[in-house]
Amino acid sequence: MALKIAVLLSGNGTTLQNLIDKQAAGMLDASIVCVISSRPDAFGLERARKHDIPAFATQHKFRENPEAFNEEIWSTIREHKAELVVLAGFMCLLQIPKDYTNKIINIHPSLIPAFCGKGMYGDKVHQAVLDYGVKVTGVTVHFVDNEYDQGPIILQEAVPVFDADTPELLAERVQAKEREMYMRAVQLFAKGRVQVDGRKVKIT
Ligand code: GAR
Repeated sequence: MALKIAVLLSGNGTTLQNLIDKQAAGMLDASIVCVISSRPDAFGLERARKHDIPAFATQHKFRENPEAFNEEIWSTIREHKAELVVLAGFMCLLQIPKDYTNKIINIHPSLIPAFCGKGMYGDKVHQAVLDYGVKVTGVTVHFVDNEYDQGPIILQEAVPVFDADTPELLAERVQAKEREMYMRAVQLFAKGRVQVDGRKVKIT
């Protein structure tokens, strides 16, 4: 049986598209049962609908009423019986119910704990990497806890930074790595190969 996954997003949905494409190519033992966006105008919703995936925008705003926002999201996730929640450019902080501990994953475009935390997403991360002058950045897939970018790390790989990089060029290189790694992480989870012991994650 395919693992049921819910995808949460706030924007363009290239990460969602990657998962849809990998599923269509038979490379993912998972089925996307719903897509939830924190914004009604997120292009990711259109991508989902185009592929007949149930897609919802939250009625409540995270900033105005975080509790109602969270409740709305979890009731949609439960309604669709999702077994894994996949954050795909989701820009709000979730409050995680106990039974979903270590069942929510996120992908972040840097080597956590560098260049992460509240407000650090997308091109802001790449700009910060270039401004600091580090020679290596990367991609982190991690479990989500109740803080920004802090849960146990599942997969982490490096990407080189070059002198001529712009945020756009660097993003392209990082996102190519993201496409392969997120699919791999979902696949490992689907196969029951991800074991969590405190902060440490073992791939069996
Ligand atoms: C992705 O590059 C993802 O790594 C990043 O946002 C982008 C989402 O793009 N996530 C974060 O920065 C999380 N802190 P998308 O909306 O086109 O899928």
